[in-house]
Order: sequence, then C-alpha cells, then structure tokens
Amino acid sequence: MSHCYREATTVVHGNHEKKANGALTTPIYQTSTFVFDSAEQGGRRFAGQEEGYIYSRLGNPTTSQLEKKIALLEGGEECIAFSSGMGAISGTLLSVLSAGDHIVADNTLYGCTFSLITETMPRFGVKPTVIDLTDEAALKAAVCPDTKVVYFETIANPSMKVIDIEAVAAYAHKVAPGCLVIVDNTFASPLLAKPLALGADVVVHSATKYLNGHGDVVAGFAVSRREIADKIRMVGLKDITGAVLGPQEAFLILRGLKTLKVRMDQICANALKVVDFLKQAPQVDKVFFPGLPEHPNYDTAKKELKQFGGMISFEMRSFEEAKKVLNNVKLCVLAVSLGDCESLIQHPASMTHSMCTKEEIEAAGFSDCLIRFSVGLEDPEDIIADLKQAFEAAE
Ligand SMILES: Cc1ncc(COP(=O)(O)O)c(C=O)c1O
Repeated sequence: MSHCYREATTVVHGNHEKKANGALTTPIYQTSTFVFDSAEQGGRRFAGQEEGYIYSRLGNPTTSQLEKKIALLEGGEECIAFSSGMGAISGTLLSVLSAGDHIVADNTLYGCTFSLITETMPRFGVKPTVIDLTDEAALKAAVCPDTKVVYFETIANPSMKVIDIEAVAAYAHKVAPGCLVIVDNTFASPLLAKPLALGADVVVHSATKYLNGHGDVVAGFAVSRREIADKIRMVGLKDITGAVLGPQEAFLILRGLKTLKVRMDQICANALKVVDFLKQAPQVDKVFFPGLPEHPNYDTAKKELKQFGGMISFEMRSFEEAKKVLNNVKLCVLAVSLGDCESLIQHPASMTHSMCTKEEIEAAGFSDCLIRFSVGLEDPEDIIADLKQAFEAAE
C-alpha cells in the first residue's frame, strides 16, 4: 500500500498483504518451524541467499505482517516484535551497548526500565548517567563524544513530562555522532507522536497498552532503520532474550490496531473532560497532564503531540486519601497497565515504581500522594461520577 493514506485508513489497511485462500484477516501461523523443499533450500535460507521462513524465533508470517504495519505507523524501515515491552527495551539496549559504554537516561521512566538501566546494565559494565532531559544544562553536562545511547519516554511515566525529542536528538547527534537516541513511545502511540521523524534512531513500545488496546496481550516493539533493526533482531531477539512474540498474540494486536485511531480519538477527548473535572475537584492538589497550559512542558507537548493523550496523574492531599480513592472506585478498575478500553487506576509509588527509592521518586517529580489514571472508553460522565464518589468517600 502506498504511504499516502490518512492514519485512520493506514491502521486498517496499511502494509496489508494478500492472504492465502482470500482470507480477509491474517491467518495465525501456529507453527514453530517451516518445512524446506530440499537440503539446498534450507542451506540457502540459513545463508540469507533465499527469502523464506526458517523457525518462528527468527520470523513468522503472522508476526511479520504485524511488524510491517507497525513500521509503517512509526515511519521506520523495520519493526521487530517482542513478547513484552521490557523484552523490546532490554533486547534493544543489549544489542547496541557493550561493557564500558555510556548511556544517558531521563530520570522519569517506567520503573522496570529505570532499574534495568540503573541497576542491571551496570552489572554488565554499562555506565549510566541519569538526568532530567528537559534541563538543557544537564543534557550538555551529561552527553559526551563517546555516549552510545540517550534514552527517554515521549510522555514520561508517571509524571507526564514531555521531552523535546528534536532538541535532544540534535544535540546528542552533534556531540556524539554515533549515539543512538532511543524513545519509548508507549504513552503517545504512533498516532500522537512520531519520534523517528523528530530525529530519534529507535522507537520502542509496550504494545500491551494502546497498540493492542484490549488488555489481553503482553507485547513489545522496536522500530528503526534497517541496519540497527538487523542487529536488534539477530542479537537482542534471536540470541540474548529470545523474547519472541507468538502468532496468537500478533493476531490479536493486528485486530486491535484496526480501531487504534477511533480509540485514541475517543480516549483523548474523554481525558480532556476528566482533566477539567480533576482541576476543580477540591480533594485534588495537583493535576499532571501535558495538555494543561500550566504544565512545565506545555509548549513542547503542543509542538510534538497531535493530541495530549489519555494518561493523567494527580496528587491527592495525602497518601491515606490516595489509597482510599483506589479502594473506593466502583467503575474504574484498580489495576496497573494502561491504554485499555477500561479506565485503569493505580498508585505508582507502591506499584509500577515501587522498585525506585524515595529519592528517585522525588527526582522523577512525584510523591506517594500521586495516582495514575489511564482514561478508558466509557462515557466520560460515568468516569467522572465514579471518581467524584471515590473522592467524597476518601475525605
Ligand atoms: C512506558 C512503558 N514502557 C514499557 C513498559 C513495559 O512494557 P511490558 O509491560 O509490556 O513489558 C511499560 C509497562 O507498563 C510502560 O508503561
């Protein structure tokens, strides 16, 4: 398919290949291995002299179809599917970093990514510098000519910080020409932000979230230009993690993707209404949402994001009240993860970011009074009514 269709069309038809027997949807190729016609053909496939499938850790037709769609949506040459977002993140970092290498990472990241970079990678000799990437002076002090990776999230989890991808990538590439800028685009989805077009080298995703969108799959992606992608597939996926996405899960994500545009549009519209309510709720101390003019990165968010997303964080007046809100919601679901049809509510300090120290949580710009809210597809008035009754019960 040509690339000139609009995104609502691309999520339905983009890079769709004709399927055997005229099937409309991509069949689930539930097979571990692929039969060769001859010993010579097997040899040619292993030598890379002939196209074709070998073994499902190296490639599978259902998964390949999904990879082609995601590559198109992100504007990258290649996409590699993984069995989780953390599989994609660790598979990517382990493919491009070696002992002695320097990585600069933002100080607000999903908790497991933060501990991978600050605790696990140093065990293998990788040297991290963790800074606030919205602070230009800190960026200039941290990036040096031998920096190999700069890593951050488009909309950071859970403070909703928005980093200027274009400025960070331009500076990193100027000072360290071989440096890879890797951006986790999970909170934005490719429909709200295109990090590769802004200068990033690799985009990673937890496809568990908006891309699948139905709370029934754990998956991840890495998207980049071909030479980097080949390395991630042949080293990070094939050899180091083996974190391969199964064809059933690939099928479900292909299905979920068809409604990505309508889901994102509705979720973003619902989020604006929920934010309006939170702003005037007397029990709420502070609202973190990139679409608020008082948000410290509002200008960057306006420049970088097509819409402001469906993720909202807010601080209650105390930890006790925050806990009571979680225990009193009736419609919204008390669960981690995000990007589903159901509105999900959770407490980062004791849940998704519980591996971070109190100091790290403070540096990331939030506290144990913070609640993270993933706006769902319910009627926004019902979401608001549920939050209102939970706030009143918490007082
Ligand atoms: C921003 C972000 N990146 C990565 C991940 C990890 O993804 P997964 O849970 O699919 O491994 C998460 C999980 O919540 C996340 O929020």
